[in-house]
Amino acid sequence: MRSNIRTRPAWLLVAAIALIATACNSAANGAEPTPTATATPEPTVAPTEVPATPEPTPTPLSNFDACVLDAERRPELTWVINKTRPLPDGYAPDDLVVLANELVVPGFEGRQLDAESAEHFADLIAAAADEGFDIRTRSTYRSFEEQTWTFAYWVEQLGQEQAERVSAMPGHSEHQLGTTADVATAAVGWQLSEALGTTPEGIWLFENAYRFGFAESYPVDGEPITGYSYEPWHLRYIGIACAATWHESELTLVEFLEALEEYG
Ligand code: DAL
Ligand code: ZN
Repeated sequence: MRSNIRTRPAWLLVAAIALIATACNSAANGAEPTPTATATPEPTVAPTEVPATPEPTPTPLSNFDACVLDAERRPELTWVINKTRPLPDGYAPDDLVVLANELVVPGFEGRQLDAESAEHFADLIAAAADEGFDIRTRSTYRSFEEQTWTFAYWVEQLGQEQAERVSAMPGHSEHQLGTTADVATAAVGWQLSEALGTTPEGIWLFENAYRFGFAESYPVDGEPITGYSYEPWHLRYIGIACAATWHESELTLVEFLEALEEYG
């Protein structure tokens, strides 16, 4: 833990000691003698300026240290969630908020994220808009039950083996955390498409989402490590400091979160 105690400035101590010393001298000597008419007035001596000691500048936390504090503040932000590591039984976020319509693909209104992720997602989308990009989400928080339907849909469409490459089993989806959003653009027909990754919007997301606390969980060629095929649309909020540390690490998200867990 960092201490809030600051060192008292040296000039304050010097000034306080000088004041105490003056008071003591006056008390010891009693009343000042009245100067006689012939006495030459004492020259006025300008008080010596005590140079102010600059306040010590607190050392800024490194991204890594700030990430460790964030992980203590909200451990679920950096939980490892994959095929072998489910969420705790019955987990549901307790502060879901409905996203503003301009953040959502038309027809998908009412999508929810946890309050902190929602705030940072809005910042991400606003920054994208500043670049001239219209990026929106069509899938965000999914309860255990919704993930059950989603996974069953993909099994029906693709069969069990292929479904497991694109969809998490119930209880194993980062979407159940309430911190994860799938995004789309007009260029990919507002669908969740691998093609997003090579569009200007997708490239911008890949290079910038971390600045807003988001990580792409399933990178291209990451399947041997993540267990899932490429999803340039799937963004998980892990906090700005952890996302910056993850970005610097050049690890897949799951490798980074496992390393962070190991450290803690
Ligand atoms: N599509 C990702 C893996 C999920 O279902 O959470
Ligand atoms: Zn997703």
